Amino acid sequence: MEKIIIGSDHGGYELKEILKSELLKFDFEVIDAGCPSKASVHFPEIGEKVVREILSGSCKRGILICGTGIGMSIAANRFKGIRATLCHDHLTAELSRQHNNSNILVLGGRLLGDVCAIDIMQTWLNTEFQGGRHQIRLDMVDQCNFE
Ligand code: RB5
Repeated sequence: MEKIIIGSDHGGYELKEILKSELLKFDFEVIDAGCPSKASVHFPEIGEKVVREILSGSCKRGILICGTGIGMSIAANRFKGIRATLCHDHLTAELSRQHNNSNILVLGGRLLGDVCAIDIMQTWLNTEFQGGRHQIRLDMVDQCNFE
């Protein structure tokens, strides 16, 4: 059974709860990194929890949700080895796996309807990385160290 970690701030709390129940239907072991309610929290703290779990190797992939998905993307992508991709629809979910080898799916909880968000998640979970020229480009990204 694959272990997957999911976290959100208050802006993504409701969608997190919906996606958690979907994941359980599909036999994932789900780790909930918070937040535990709609009360206001700081998204970088939750983002870091999810990132650390992935970088430790304990989970291969994770899901982060905030109001727009933008804050969580900025925070998670500060960490080397993290490819957090903000997806809005089926195609961005598919390409984020095929081309970007996304290891964190980021969603905007205040922007997406439930059906669309579930489709994005299922697509992201079930799409393989294509490697080849895309791996060369990801290696280049890993070499980037701009001031
Ligand atoms: C919280 O109000 C909101 O700023 C946050 O959820 C997120 O959208 C930040 O990018």
